This record gives sequence, structure tokens and C-alpha cells, in this order.
Amino acid sequence: MRVLSVVGARPQFIKLAPIAAEFARSQIEHVIVHTGQHYDESMSSRFFADLQIPEPDISLDIGSGSHGVQTGGMLAALDGVLSEQQPDWVLVYGDTNSTLAGALAAVKLHLPVAHLEAGLRSFNRRMPEEHNRVLTDHAADLLLAPTIVAMKHLAAEGLAERAILVGDVMTDVCLHVRDQVLADPAAIPSLPISAGESYVVATIHRADNTDNAERLANVINALRSIDSKVLLLVHPRLAVRAAEFGIELDGGSLISLPPLGYAEMVSAVLGSAGIVTDSGGLQKEAFLLGRPTTTLRTETEWVETLADGWNVLDPWLDHIAELATRPIPAATRATPYGDGQAAAAVASALTARLTEREIHSR
Ligand code: UD1
Repeated sequence: MRVLSVVGARPQFIKLAPIAAEFARSQIEHVIVHTGQHYDESMSSRFFADLQIPEPDISLDIGSGSHGVQTGGMLAALDGVLSEQQPDWVLVYGDTNSTLAGALAAVKLHLPVAHLEAGLRSFNRRMPEEHNRVLTDHAADLLLAPTIVAMKHLAAEGLAERAILVGDVMTDVCLHVRDQVLADPAAIPSLPISAGESYVVATIHRADNTDNAERLANVINALRSIDSKVLLLVHPRLAVRAAEFGIELDGGSLISLPPLGYAEMVSAVLGSAGIVTDSGGLQKEAFLLGRPTTTLRTETEWVETLADGWNVLDPWLDHIAELATRPIPAATRATPYGDGQAAAAVASALTARLTEREIHSR
């Protein structure tokens, strides 16, 4: 069986890591296509090196652009690649423009598509990620869902027959890297924090938070109101917008740092008092690592993290100061994201569905 993965943005490289390792273990032929949506060293090649992902076989070098230009560039470039490779499966990941382009390019060429992290919904139609998820789920032949809630969303949209619950591959990588970090904490470069000092980790990158000058200024001021050091890990989109609007990302208790590698991030979360973010992945990683999160959005796709106050939504920035340093909830966390074996379930599902297809086509 030959699987062609289409990836392009940071969270997709993280999801690719356990999949690439599992495919290698199960001798599944794997072709990796990097669209080039994320191209900075700190957003891309560093993750391939740190997470020991094989180098991409094909790089499209599409780069940044408006949604139409970026997605269209990928679509045009993928046509030739997919026609030549003729994979048994095109595997697309998550909810970025690279996901939608991969799915659309494949269905147009009648190549079977599997969507990893299918069925997530924010029900917020302003988000580009929501369009990407919904369109990809409806285009794909196999929907690899991470949670029971995601399965329910797919069923509600008439997609139950194509859906299978595999668990969450980000849990595979997060728990694995957590164990490595705990086994050898000295291997991780230290943060600009004194020993024993309490700090909060913050990340902001969603268009709704970054692309309006007033909103972005309000978010940064809210982070400054937190009564402990705040390490702001600056995504390129945030850096570009802050420079454009003349907004300072440093000063007082706010300390800006470039994006961290994955192990550094896990270590930073483990050492923190809490997380303030608009990232989907980080909300879940904080939950898995047992740190309280404050999410600067009106909704979350990872609704399981809201249980017992592990994650609290604060879109209007009303309560950041008290929420950011609140104590860890007393309640034991459930395990809605699986047991860290999702990549193996993905490999089995792809193999089983391919066999079914071959039987049906005889
Ligand atoms: C994308 C995804 C989002 C995901 C996020 C993770 C879409 C619509 N959004 O958002 O779902 O959560 O990635 O990071 O696909 N830039 C650089 N260097 C880079 C990458 C980007 O400088 O390596 C800058 C460019 O100026 C670009 C901006 O960041 O215009 C935004 O990048 P883009 O890929 O459009 O979307 P993200 O905001 O990263």
C-alpha cells in the first residue's frame, strides 16, 4: 500500500510524526509532500529534525498568500504530483489550507482521500479552518475521527458510514515526548525564568485575534495584566501584524520568544502555572499535560478540555488576570483522546479499507 501525505503547516508536522513512524514500522510505502505553507526554519524543518520525520519527498514551496492564492497554488501544483504518484490513499491532516488543497486535488483525480482529525467543528463560519474542515470531510472517502464527539458531528452531517474512531494522533506524540522530557530534563534549553518563578505560556495566531489592530492591542494588554511572567511564543502571523500595527510584544511581565521546538514546548507547558492561547493543539496538549488553559476564543473544537474547568473560554478578555494563574482543577481528567496508540489505528483502518475496496472492485 502506498500512502501520500500532504502537509504544510506546523501542527501537521506534529501529526505526521507518529504516522510516519507507524508507516515505517508496518512497511507501508509513504510519500511525504510538503506544500510550503509554513517555510520558516522555526515553523518547519526544525520539527522534521526534532521529531525524526523523514525529509519530505516532494516540496511545493508555495509560501504565503491570500487564502485563494495560497490554496489555488497548492491545488495546481498537486495535480502533477498526484497524477504521477498514483497513491492508494492521499492522507490529509487537520484543517489548514494545505488540507483542503490536498483533498480537493485528490478527489478531482479520483484518488481515494483519508482525512485525519475528521469531524472537529467550531460551528464558527468566520474561521478559515472551519471551512477547510467541513469541505474536506465532505470530500473525503475515509474520515479518521479523534473523538466520540467528532464521530457524532460526522453522523449529524450524514457521514457516519465513512467515519471511524481512531483516537488522537497528537496524543501519541505528546505523551511520548512528555516521557522523553521527564526522563532527561537537562537536555532541554532553559527558558528566561528564574528557578522556582511562576510563569504563564501564551500563544496567539488566529486571524480573529491578530488581524484587527484594536483587537490585537486589547489581547496584548490583557496578557500584560497577568500577575506573573508571561512567555509569549510569537507565531509569524502575530509578528507580521504586530509590526504592521506598531504594537509592542515585550515589556513589563511580557517576554516575547520565537516559536519553540516540540520538546521545548512540552517542557515549557509542564513547568508553567497555566496557558493562555487561541491554538487548538495547545489547548489539548495542556489538558494532556495537566495544566489549566484560558482560551481567547468564543468556542473550542476540543470541547472535552472544558470539563471541570481545565479549559475556560474568555473571548472578551474579561477574566484573564484571575484565570491565567488559577490553581490546577482538583478533578481527575478523563481520557477522551485515546491512549496514545492512534497512529496504529490509522494504519489498520487504511489497510482494511483498501482491502475492502479491492474486494469490491473484483
Ligand atoms: C495556519 C492554519 C491554521 C493553523 C496554523 C498553525 C490556515 C487557514 N490556517 O495559520 O489552521 O492553526 O497554520 O500555525 O491554513 N508566515 C511566515 N513564516 C512561516 C509561515 C507563515 O512568516 O513559516 C507568515 C506569513 O506572513 C503569512 C502568515 O504568517 O502571511 C500566516 O501564515 P498562513 O500559513 O497563512 O496561516 P497561519 O496563520 O500560520
